[in-house]
Amino acid sequence: MPHKVLSNHDLEKMVDTNDQWIQERTGIKKRHIIADGETTTDLAFNAAKKAIEAAGIENTEIDLIIVATTTPTKIFPSTASLVQEQLGISGCPAFDIQAVCTGFIYALTVADKFIKSGSAKNALIIGAECLSRIVDWNDRNTCVLFGDGAGAVVLQASEETGILSTHIHSDGKYNGLLSVPTGPGSIDTDAKPYIEMQGNDVFKIAVRTLSSIADETLSANKLSKKDIDWLIPHQANIRIIAATAKKLGMSMDQVVVTVDQHGNTSAASIPLALDVAVRDGRIQLGETLLLEAFGGGFTWGSVLLNF
Ligand code: ACO
Repeated sequence: MPHKVLSNHDLEKMVDTNDQWIQERTGIKKRHIIADGETTTDLAFNAAKKAIEAAGIENTEIDLIIVATTTPTKIFPSTASLVQEQLGISGCPAFDIQAVCTGFIYALTVADKFIKSGSAKNALIIGAECLSRIVDWNDRNTCVLFGDGAGAVVLQASEETGILSTHIHSDGKYNGLLSVPTGPGSIDTDAKPYIEMQGNDVFKIAVRTLSSIADETLSANKLSKKDIDWLIPHQANIRIIAATAKKLGMSMDQVVVTVDQHGNTSAASIPLALDVAVRDGRIQLGETLLLEAFGGGFTWGSVLLNF
């Protein structure tokens, strides 16, 4: 995550809000904000270096790069291509995926297909965002929720462990409930390039959808709720996370929660949470992990894996 921290108390000086409201309604205590001279590529590259080091491979062994992002450094080339340059490698496919908060799940899904088809052996998958640059800092409904960061994994071909199944969905009819309503191809010249959200509606549909994707995932693998060791949800709001865990019959001790530390970092939030729980030793080899996310689109999805 970037170094600069913006606390709830800092936000109290910017908009009509308070620490108690933010913590009670969202669980967020602080968020990290990208520096003026920093880019999404910088965040992505830092995360990539740590993932490659953890995997114990050389940069040159990477044969696929996917960056999940809604806030790319440039419209083109892709942030994945820019990371590829920084890694000093060339030739392997590199591209971005835009599925907002579900982006990391979409990226893992695509990489899994590359690996299972034999097209890749060491896929670098990054979720990286600088949402602070598409937030209206005068809108208290949204500015308290989001933050910047990046997380990454190296997904390797293996006979022993790995992804059991992936499930991704979208329903574009909900695009009006959560969006940045303009872009380079838009004809709406009055629309501002900031996140707009009908928070209440998003909340209700998110809770409903996240529990149904969990059921879909378990049923596809003929598993039951008690077979999941860890839930690693998209970190948007502690109340959404707790409601999903409750529907799954899981104790919060089995849920990795980092939203308090960085707010909603969209495609970066699942790899950030995964990183914390792997490095602090909570997640052990052989355990079953359910990763799930919901975001703009609406998009939603899950990955079930044996760690
Ligand atoms: N500080 C203080 N008060 C506030 C703030 C704030 N920052 N924001 C809103 N309020 C007020 C509202 O104006 C309202 O006041 P009123 O009762 O006088 O009208 C009151 O607080 C309650 O507002 P609600 O919107 O009903 O609050 P709610 O409990 O729904 O929480 C929240 C709002 C946190 C946004 C919640 O709806 C939420 O988390 N929604 C889902 C967001 C999400 O998960 N997005 C997922 C994907 S994001 C992506 O894809 C990029």
